Amino acid sequence: MTFEYNRAYQGDCDEVMSQMIDEGIKFDLILTDPPYNLDKDFGNKSDSLPLDEFISTSRERINKCHRLLTNSGSLIWFGIHRYIGYLQVLMYEEGMFYRGMNIWFYENGFSRSKKSPATQYEPFLWFSNSNKEWTYNADDVRVPYKSTDRLKSPVYYKDKNGIKKEWTANPAGALRGDIWAYPTLAGKNFAKERTAHPTQKPETLITELIKAYCPKDSNGKYNGTILDPFHGSGTLGVCCEKLNQQGHDIKWIGLELEQRWVDVTNERLQKLHNHTLSL
Ligand SMILES: C[S@@+](CC[C@H](N)C(=O)[O-])C[C@H]1O[C@@H](n2cnc3c(N)ncnc32)[C@H](O)[C@@H]1O
Repeated sequence: MTFEYNRAYQGDCDEVMSQMIDEGIKFDLILTDPPYNLDKDFGNKSDSLPLDEFISTSRERINKCHRLLTNSGSLIWFGIHRYIGYLQVLMYEEGMFYRGMNIWFYENGFSRSKKSPATQYEPFLWFSNSNKEWTYNADDVRVPYKSTDRLKSPVYYKDKNGIKKEWTANPAGALRGDIWAYPTLAGKNFAKERTAHPTQKPETLITELIKAYCPKDSNGKYNGTILDPFHGSGTLGVCCEKLNQQGHDIKWIGLELEQRWVDVTNERLQKLHNHTLSL
């Protein structure tokens, strides 16, 4: 099978990733949001595995992702508190290199339980293929300074040689931390973006992650290859296409078991295309 970029395929990623490995395909970034094993109904049983099967399946999938990465490639893998520890161990056992545990933080989740605090975050792991080189575009994902007080008068520090230097604020903002605060798609404000998919990720979050982790060319344009083996409603593809419309050249592929979610992806992409034509 020859794979075309910038489209979603219906298929079982366990099989399709094996074909990609056989064909020698490599990706700079695998950015994915697999079933968390929380019994969500995606139209299949993929989110309701016995724990031992969840672990063995995840082990095989992480191995395939590893084999699909370029030398400087990275894997970004969303999970949930309850199981993220297993996944992190699997990635260490796979021989990948830990770069960080990030947090997707949101305050607009919905809780019915009074027995424990409401969930306000989902962790995601970042592992790289190499311990020497990887992509992280720190300047592309700066955030506003929390306080402007320290910008009012000069701030001094000593460099590594003990020489006094003046610190000046970066006009693009502060270097971001590992907590990525973006609201979920709950509520009226996000009705337009939301599809029927039960665990659709917000475009704000996924776009920021692409900007952070996608390689760039010498003109500063994103030009990496990205795979999402659990593409769902197609958020990764939609975000890449929105960036491509701004002049970037990201090559992405999405894989999804259920045809109905591939249809949703194609509808989202078509809408984007129609909107651009109407401008
Ligand atoms: C958590 S959802 C991804 C949601 C996605 N990030 C979005 O924004 O819509 C996981 C998806 O993986 C799909 N899936 C489960 N097992 C799969 C498999 N073996 N191959 C491909 N897709 C699979 C499910 O059908 C589900 O749509």
